[in-house]
Amino acid sequence: MSGRVVVVGSANVDLVVDVPRHPRGGETVLGDRLRRSPGGKGANQAVAAAWAGGADTSFVGALGDDEAADLLLVSLGGAGVRTDLVARVDAPTGTAFVTVDPGGENAIVVAPGANDLLQLNDNQAERIADAEVVLAQLEIPLDVVTEAAAARKAGALFVLNAAPSRELPPELWAAVDILVVNEHEAADLAGTPEALLDRVPVAVMTLGGEGCVILRREREPVHISGIPVQVIDTTGAGDAFCGVLAASLARGLDVEAATRLAGAAGALAVTRPGAQTAVPSADEVALLGGRVS
Ligand code: RIB
Repeated sequence: MSGRVVVVGSANVDLVVDVPRHPRGGETVLGDRLRRSPGGKGANQAVAAAWAGGADTSFVGALGDDEAADLLLVSLGGAGVRTDLVARVDAPTGTAFVTVDPGGENAIVVAPGANDLLQLNDNQAERIADAEVVLAQLEIPLDVVTEAAAARKAGALFVLNAAPSRELPPELWAAVDILVVNEHEAADLAGTPEALLDRVPVAVMTLGGEGCVILRREREPVHISGIPVQVIDTTGAGDAFCGVLAASLARGLDVEAATRLAGAAGALAVTRPGAQTAVPSADEVALLGGRVS
């Protein structure tokens, strides 16, 4: 089973500068040359679900009518993502300003542009209703995320990557089957990781180089170890994780097996620069994922 995934989310052109360190408030820092690459949490996760996760993946998002949109469509299409349902709206394609320090740590500011104008239409809702897994993040309007969750078929999973973290309405919390967050997002959303389970049945908390932990109601937490790698750029590593997690679930793997492959995808992604440009192949993920404990 190849599994069908619909990713509902943002697409941005990433304007990336390597910096000796991230600037403090009011400070100017001289960086390296400017790089321009396809990004956006939604588009990154769609690329990962298709290319690294091997799932039949559709992307539902909004782009402007500009060169940034072309860059994104080429990247999504090149990874095998279905883009027929991407909306074109009267606003510039989203832009993310990304700085990356020598340790590979990033800082990102997003100007949402077209992402803010995303609305679900009937065709998109139909595609969602056909998927085994619907995956969303929080760089698009919250009502669209909530509608996407509601449009899934009975038995399909709604996976929410609550990034960037923001307050969520009760109806969205109630729709989540699996929540994916990092430690900061977990603290923002619930105070403690365990408290996430008051809201959702399953939470996967990523821990950077330390791997991740799966939290489930009435079960002991399961820690999945990190894989030692040389960190070049952490941008989009969480997206590679989420895309492969969704794809693996859609292909019928259980949460633990899917999370191990997701961890491998995230580890491989940090060894390469960029977001979509850093997404590993499905073969690489399978090879490394087999070694994750
Ligand atoms: O998660 C990384 C992504 O966050 C970047 O590609 C940037 O566009 C922002 O959406």
